[in-house]
Amino acid sequence: MLLLSKIEDRIKALTPRRAITLAISANFILVLAALALPADGEARGPATLSILGNFHILALHLPAALLLIVPLFEFLDRQESASNTVRRLSLISTAGTWVAVLLGIIHAHFNGYAGDAVQLHLWGGIVASAFAGMASVLLVKSFKVRLGSQLLAIATMGFAAHIGGELVHQDGFPFKPNKVAAPKKTDTPRVVTTSQKRDDYTQVIRPILDAHCVECHGAKKVKGKLRMDTLEALKKGGSEGSAFVAGDLKKSLMHVRVTLDPADDDFMPTEGTPLTKEQVNALALWIEAKPIPDEVAKLALAATKAPRQAPKAQK
Ligand code: HEC
Repeated sequence: MLLLSKIEDRIKALTPRRAITLAISANFILVLAALALPADGEARGPATLSILGNFHILALHLPAALLLIVPLFEFLDRQESASNTVRRLSLISTAGTWVAVLLGIIHAHFNGYAGDAVQLHLWGGIVASAFAGMASVLLVKSFKVRLGSQLLAIATMGFAAHIGGELVHQDGFPFKPNKVAAPKKTDTPRVVTTSQKRDDYTQVIRPILDAHCVECHGAKKVKGKLRMDTLEALKKGGSEGSAFVAGDLKKSLMHVRVTLDPADDDFMPTEGTPLTKEQVNALALWIEAKPIPDEVAKLALAATKAPRQAPKAQK
């Protein structure tokens, strides 16, 4: 505790100028870290750093809760100059926010996150950390100024946290029920028509990919720089090449990856239920531009999870 009180004394002794410099440089470090460790969808080692990154999810709750509680204490104390409690909580939440954002940058870089929502979440977090820093610098000011800056920090944090919540759960989180909302299998509009009439991509392949792959290869997470939510994206492929090359199973990485030994590091999906024999068969036939027989299509779709279930709820 001695160390903590020493740190506190040091912080108290900071001149406003020094405090501003400290806040700006701390957040400048975050910007540099975000640029040096881009969220580019590439999952990479070392394992210690990806594990450290996972702690982002854990670490962010403390500062988020503290940021929320600071204005409450301001109201309870209602003093022209910030009380000791307010000061301490504000400083801890600012430092905690900074740490959580840094872990987030590490998480995204080492665990292969990418996509617009990830970028928004990441830079939103940095802005929230900057506003939290500002709220701490403004602790020397009047009640109203303090309160205003704290609410601003909460608003930006709330925005970044909301995007983060959607990344972990689903669009519209938390204002959407998850399990209850999942359509029953029989409700899904999957008409398995006869092979002559059927568009195999939209009616068979797309639902399989949506249910088993898009969670990690879609608009939000783009693992291996590969998106699988459109035909163009499949053709374009990821960092290792095309996922779909018409007529060529060996070059179509989407087929290669699902037919590896499940113990292989490259086996897809990395998590969740592997594709069934019929699903793999359907993919292969489609890649080779052969019609998928009705029986295979039916079995493949029956094994396909209902789309848009909360990814976490079903594991
Ligand atoms: C839980 C997340 C997750 C799911 C679900 C998932 N993948 Fe992946 N996928 C990854 C990760 C991580 C990588 C990047 C590392 C690698 O290349 O192995 C990747 C990479 C790939 C690649 C290589 C991309 C490239 O060019 O580097 C292909 C192809 C692929 N996945 C296909 C699939 C298919 C097909 C499915 C569905 C059956 C699927 N993935 C489901 C996480 C996932």
